Amino acid sequence: MKRLLAKREQARLGGGEKRITAQHNKGKMTARERVDLLLDEGSFEEYDMFVSHRTTDFGLGDEHYPSDGVITGHGTIAGRLVYVFSQDFTVFGGSLSETNAKKICKVMDQAMKVGAPLIGINDSGGARIQEGVRSLAGYASIFQRNIMASGVIPQISAIFGPCAGGAVYSPALTDFIVMAEKTSYMFVTGPKVVKTVTGETITEEDLGGASVHATKSGVTHFVGANEHEGILLIKKLLSYLPQNNLEEPPLSFCDDPSDRLVDELNTIIPEKPSIPYDVKDIIHAIADNGEFLEVQRQYARNIVTGFVTFSGISTGIVANQPNYLAGCLDNDASRKAARFVRFCDAFNIPIVTLVDVPGFLPGSAQEFNGIITNGAKLLFAYGEATVPKITVILRKAYGGAYCVMSSRHLRGDINYAWPSAEIAVMGPTGATEVLYNRDLKSFTSNEERAAFVTEKENEYRDKFANPYEAAKYGYIDDIIEPRNTRFRIIRALQTLATKKDSNPLKKHSTLPL
Ligand code: COA
Repeated sequence: MKRLLAKREQARLGGGEKRITAQHNKGKMTARERVDLLLDEGSFEEYDMFVSHRTTDFGLGDEHYPSDGVITGHGTIAGRLVYVFSQDFTVFGGSLSETNAKKICKVMDQAMKVGAPLIGINDSGGARIQEGVRSLAGYASIFQRNIMASGVIPQISAIFGPCAGGAVYSPALTDFIVMAEKTSYMFVTGPKVVKTVTGETITEEDLGGASVHATKSGVTHFVGANEHEGILLIKKLLSYLPQNNLEEPPLSFCDDPSDRLVDELNTIIPEKPSIPYDVKDIIHAIADNGEFLEVQRQYARNIVTGFVTFSGISTGIVANQPNYLAGCLDNDASRKAARFVRFCDAFNIPIVTLVDVPGFLPGSAQEFNGIITNGAKLLFAYGEATVPKITVILRKAYGGAYCVMSSRHLRGDINYAWPSAEIAVMGPTGATEVLYNRDLKSFTSNEERAAFVTEKENEYRDKFANPYEAAKYGYIDDIIEPRNTRFRIIRALQTLATKKDSNPLKKHSTLPL
């Protein structure tokens, strides 16, 4: 017993007091402190505490630390089982060794067999240099498991320190990445290599810090002000997710009445169609207790994605944001929303889409960056999704973007429109210019021309800038009073709870990547 307790004590010290102090001095927690904060108290069951590496090269034969730089096991979060690995930077910089990779693979395999989420906490100097290809083989074994687990169990990666080189690809293969401000960074090649190869001088923070990945690359989905906040975000996120793809998400307790009317929504859309508003005000107003967990908040802000509950039912929200780029769809927004829709579909989370989209963002920059392929991703994701799909057209639904945004024609289940909806091929100004191009050229007086334009625009608006034309064809199931939106969505979700739909049997689709 004494021997066991002494060995456990030694393992808990990781790389030793000095390195633990260095870790704390950097504003970082140790691998064990993170696991303790993440899991319900007393729920952690650790595996492979006494594993050690098998390397004798570079003098490593005499340097052993039980656990070998990664803490693995399972525990619960809010009473629900999760598997976890947490890299220990105090042991060889948390670098990945052959044995350390085997520990990670063991919990990944068990998470898959049991059907429970996997959370990986990354804080590592990358491949264990002394082990060469054995370490790289370890990475590849983890990647293969990430790929097999994709769409089967939720996989979440926290980055709470360095994550460089090949190490980035395990988090990149998972569903969500959470970073902590100032103490974490991710890049394929670090500043030194960048300088040597391209001559560019750049800091770690500017190349791969949390803020860069939250705003520019879109690599991270959440950013915590610190690790503590990052861990709370993981717990919150899990509350919306099922344990695996064969289960439904948990039904949350809800004390917000499902028939709560939201009067202010009747006047939230500005009189003038060109005036923006914040679609998040609508999301907060209709969700249970105004709670919304936004995903990729700072990236592609022209589309808003995230999780809410409606009368306790976990739901994914996709909404165009008129407050940013007028809510246009562009390359980044299309990819962001497509990924989110596919995640929800894989994990049986219904999707509510709030539409106010003037179309795709025009311009050579968009075309050269592949808006055709990227827009197709979102279209594909919606068309392929078999979860309940509820759409509310708030204002504009123009052109191809109307088709893309969970339209009835992409197997939308219930499609509502507010009375302010405008469903048309394009806006009145563009339409008038195309339809009356020849007439417009013939005017000599500017005033006459303006009067003609106003008349034609009004004519067009009367015909198309309303939801009734679409409703006439049954493309809209009902035109609803905005204040009833929460109630109508909840009833739709409850109605669709037993929905069954499927796709033809195939190896996999050829989604336009
Ligand atoms: N393999 C083996 N040991 C490693 C390691 C690796 N990949 N990365 C770090 N370590 C060890 C260091 O030798 C050091 O050991 P010590 O405590 O016995 O002195 C310890 O981990 C801490 O590293 P240190 O460099 O002192 O920490 P830092 O915070 O100053 O820098 C890094 C962190 C990650 C920037 C730096 O360690 C680094 O550049 N590592 C190599 C990254 C890399 O190129 N990896 C391969 C890519 S796949």
